Amino acid sequence: MFLRHCELHNYRSWEHLALDLEPGITLFVGANGQGKTNFVEGINYLSCLRSHRVSQDGPLIREGCDTATITGTAVHRGRELTVAVEINKGKSNQATINTASCKTRELLGVVATTLFAPEDLNLVRGEPAIRRNYLDDLLVQRRPRLSAVLSDYEKVLRQRNALLKSANMALRHGYNTEAGTSALTTLDAWDAQLAQHGATIIAHRLHLLHELSPYVADNYQSLAPGSRPTALHYQSIPELTIENCGTTPPPDQDFIEAALLAGLAAQRDKEIDRGITLAGPHRDDITLMLGVHPAKGFASQGETWSYALSLRLAAYNLMTEDGTEPILLLDDVFSELDKYRREALATVVANAEQTLITAAVGDDLPEKLQPVAVHTVTAHGDANYRISELDREVDNG
Ligand SMILES: Nc1ncnc2c1ncn2[C@@H]1O[C@H](COP(=O)(O)OP(=O)(O)OP(=O)(O)O)[C@@H](O)[C@H]1O
Ligand SMILES: [Mg+2]
Repeated sequence: MFLRHCELHNYRSWEHLALDLEPGITLFVGANGQGKTNFVEGINYLSCLRSHRVSQDGPLIREGCDTATITGTAVHRGRELTVAVEINKGKSNQATINTASCKTRELLGVVATTLFAPEDLNLVRGEPAIRRNYLDDLLVQRRPRLSAVLSDYEKVLRQRNALLKSANMALRHGYNTEAGTSALTTLDAWDAQLAQHGATIIAHRLHLLHELSPYVADNYQSLAPGSRPTALHYQSIPELTIENCGTTPPPDQDFIEAALLAGLAAQRDKEIDRGITLAGPHRDDITLMLGVHPAKGFASQGETWSYALSLRLAAYNLMTEDGTEPILLLDDVFSELDKYRREALATVVANAEQTLITAAVGDDLPEKLQPVAVHTVTAHGDANYRISELDREVDNG
């Protein structure tokens, strides 16, 4: 897949940007703070409908504006689709495919990307939510219908947590109050829904980890030959904690649902006490193993980078195997990598259908990267940002 054209309007620092792109490598070079990451973040938003830098959409809208728009025309197997998303302040976002209105979530799967960013170190070192997002973003890119399951789960979770809080209040005044009894009866109904959606999410995550693991292991070995092997463990309630997801077949969904229901029942008192849901996919994590140790808190800087790159490359491999080769977005990563890892990443990029790379001025890029176009990214004054084509265009042929 490749992006033939993209536009940003009032997105972050970009007042307006319209750019034609080609397959192959396009390089964006500019000094710090010129809008390179903003550009890549905008393209990536089209594929995941969220930013990799912030959890809310608010900061994506240009200061002083109410709406940011991102448009992209993607070409996949000769078929062209133009998608646009409007990010609105204080009201819901809007989307179109070929100018026809649609639900935002219908955009998922149209533009596929794999983003490599300096923040990827947090895939290994950061909070569990970062690893859950990594899995869920990939799930949704591959199976867009799961986006509805994820948002239903979120809704049920919010309702259930609210109920737990009222049950907690009732508990303080004794279970026999009418409000307490009613909260507890209603909780049973929410448990069933939570377990049903939760089981769908966990089952898909486990299947995904099963498929991803060999790619992660292979990529890690190519980036760090002769190193300890990698393994991915799924961390959940004890019945659903699966070691070595690559070799352990995932349990079926009915088993997961029953285990979740039992897990919720077993922790009911504790949940009411704390007023939050203690079992479910929102609490789970992936433990990234390196040999016999978890990489988090153990791996060196270089090993951490190798792991993060292996996870991203595995996502790219899997989607490519599915028949949808994602657009590679490399935001300022080469400057973070040592020579060996740079070369390894450059080899993948050299064979990819389309790669957009950002780099600060003067950054060394591997020689084997032969861009079809190089753009300088410059900010003029405080309002106008511009990407302009340099005469240093290189023939890829
Ligand atoms: N919502 C917004 N409205 C206006 N400007 C914004 C908004 N969000 C971020 N910016 C500005 O965008 C500028 C460029 O940010 P960006 O992260 O894209 O820079 P960059 O070119 O990637 O720099 P670096 O090389 O340091 O990574 C920053 O100066 C920031 O203040
Ligand atoms: Mg940047």
